[in-house]
Amino acid sequence: MVRNIFKISVVAIICNAMTVMTVNAQDINSSKSIETKIENIISLLTIEEKVAMCHAQSKFSTPGVERLGVPELWMSDGPHGVRGEINWDNWGYAGWTNDSITAFPALTCLAATFNPNLSKDYGISIGEEARYRKKDVLLGPGVNMYRSPLNGRNFEYMGEDPFLASKMVVPYIQGVQQNGVAACVKHFALNNQEVWRDHINVEVSDRALHEIYLPAFKAAVEEGKVWSIMGSYNQFRRQFCCHNDLLLNKILKKDWNFDGVVITDWGGAHDTKQAALNGLDIEMGTGTDGLTTSTKNAYDSYYLANPFLKLLKSGEIAEDVLNDKVRRILRLMFRTNMNPNRSFGRMNNQEHIDVARKIAGEGIVLLKNEASFFPIDASKKITIAVIGENATKSMTIGGGSSELKAKNEIAPLEGLKNRYKNATIKYAMGYASGPSAYDRVIPSTLDANKLKQEAIEVATKADIVLFFGGLNKNHLQDCEGADRKEFKLPFGQDELLNELIKVNPNIGVVLISGNAVEMPWISEIKALMQTWYLGSVAGNAIADVISGDVNPSGKLPFSFPKKLSDNAAHSFGELSYPGDGVNQYYKEDILVGYRWFDTKKIKPLFAFGEGQSYTTFELSKWTADKKEYTKNESILISGNVSNTGNIDGSEVVQVYVGKLNSKVNRAEKELKGFQKIEVKKGENAAASISIDVNSLSFYDESISNWNLEKGDYIIYIGNSSNNISKKIKITIK
Ligand code: BGC
Repeated sequence: MVRNIFKISVVAIICNAMTVMTVNAQDINSSKSIETKIENIISLLTIEEKVAMCHAQSKFSTPGVERLGVPELWMSDGPHGVRGEINWDNWGYAGWTNDSITAFPALTCLAATFNPNLSKDYGISIGEEARYRKKDVLLGPGVNMYRSPLNGRNFEYMGEDPFLASKMVVPYIQGVQQNGVAACVKHFALNNQEVWRDHINVEVSDRALHEIYLPAFKAAVEEGKVWSIMGSYNQFRRQFCCHNDLLLNKILKKDWNFDGVVITDWGGAHDTKQAALNGLDIEMGTGTDGLTTSTKNAYDSYYLANPFLKLLKSGEIAEDVLNDKVRRILRLMFRTNMNPNRSFGRMNNQEHIDVARKIAGEGIVLLKNEASFFPIDASKKITIAVIGENATKSMTIGGGSSELKAKNEIAPLEGLKNRYKNATIKYAMGYASGPSAYDRVIPSTLDANKLKQEAIEVATKADIVLFFGGLNKNHLQDCEGADRKEFKLPFGQDELLNELIKVNPNIGVVLISGNAVEMPWISEIKALMQTWYLGSVAGNAIADVISGDVNPSGKLPFSFPKKLSDNAAHSFGELSYPGDGVNQYYKEDILVGYRWFDTKKIKPLFAFGEGQSYTTFELSKWTADKKEYTKNESILISGNVSNTGNIDGSEVVQVYVGKLNSKVNRAEKELKGFQKIEVKKGENAAASISIDVNSLSFYDESISNWNLEKGDYIIYIGNSSNNISKKIKITIK
């Protein structure tokens, strides 16, 4: 009943907007009739009303047209939960009491699940929360590639591999959008560091652009059918990405046929003519200053506000240019806030918590496990020393625009206490980072030496030591607006760990971070678990895996170098990362992440795709369906996965492909397929993975197109990029 009333009222609004038309729920979704309605609305709008729709009226909304019933458009960050309400004109929190949400695991964790089905669940759930919070556009997900472990925003993205990110981003978008909420995939493109992000000019080859940095965006558009996309702050070939002719007009809107809305990053527009002509549709965050705080309402001064109107009125810019933007915005509205069929959404319900916990459990990566240190039996009466600030620190607060007002957040210590009722758990903070701050470091006032001594004392008397360290969401850690300054662990954690190892070698490390870190102590510890930022359920999900209630199955979505200079971007010096303040050259070209480690024969500390289980798996009988293929065909790879251990578990079969004797530089191998398979203990499961032959093409700069080289290729099948159990040679004719 309530739903019907809602439908009728929205239909009334739309009819209102089109006086001459009748709309009903049946034809509202037919794209032809919607396009007709859009043209009708455009014909009724004044030029001022249309211009107003192209820029912000507040921090997170654009105006509607009241007299015609065209609604306002409301946006929110993204991408791990729906952000708390922000003030109309500044970055302060509005202090609402009904905007606490479910915080989902960070996208690095989602990527580590290698499970696209979970990405769909993630999208549906966060989309429902966005809808309940009356948001029309969710500002996420982010698919910038992991290029340097120092990038402060890596935790918001899906790792270093374009294929993995493509497979994971599509279902997320579909899930969000089935709620009548637009996903806004970001930051398009090449925003792979936070240092100088607001101006650095990125120079990268066409080949690396198309092979590494664009595929996840392309998949978002072509397969995910994303309704909006956010430009990035940086420049590419000396044009700001929020109004970049090549990226937005030629690639996004022409080549990929994107029919949605391009939104600036907040404060990402810099010029009226370029904003008007180079593909931007909605300008956000300028004037009141998207980046800092100002109380002066300057929305009319936005590049796409009065200055745009002036050029339109003088005839310097044709009204068609404006109409194209408004057409896209209205199309977005028919998909979201003018769609009478969209659901109401829901928030903080048990299903969302369950989805968050499932993703967290599947995304945790077990990287070392000497003498079966994990799982730790929860029935035992033992003393567990829990050391480290990250055992209690909130990780939903801080980090920049992705920060959340979580209704609940269970910290690791609490999660362990919930699960380990028989054990004695002794906690010591060990080190202190100081309070979370987005744009500055506030040093801790606690006595570091005293904290260390207390931790040593607790560790000495325990049966087991669990060290909860890593990074956090403070400025210069995993946080927007700046990059990390060093690769090593901050706040004296290395020194503390060395002391703890001396007094109690039965120690496992639980690393909470969205980035790789240096681990000089790795050979001295028994076990290592990478647990990301897990949101509302962090503590319970970590306890699930530590106790063995959940058998780990996560795989690293990016490589962990032993030292920073082993990373491709860093190995080329400052011009490659972070640039000279004006320009930056991606000198490693296509050899990003494991592509670099493999090809240059540099051993990473932990490899892309790596991750252990509490059981053991064996891959056997893997074959290709044929020996020779031609373009447009599929290669079907099939075989068995046996669970040879004593507990049920899941393994991710990964298929990489490399070209032999290529005429161009190529990575030794690239991920082209994967499948996560659940196998009961002692059982076998058959699996098959299909690879599109065309996906073996390289981007040929001489023809500005993809080129499928004929000849021999090696297919590598394994459970990690550095653990290949079968190689098969095939030929492309
Ligand atoms: C971030 C975006 C975010 C926007 C709005 C910007 O600073 O780069 O990712 O969506 O702010 O909060």
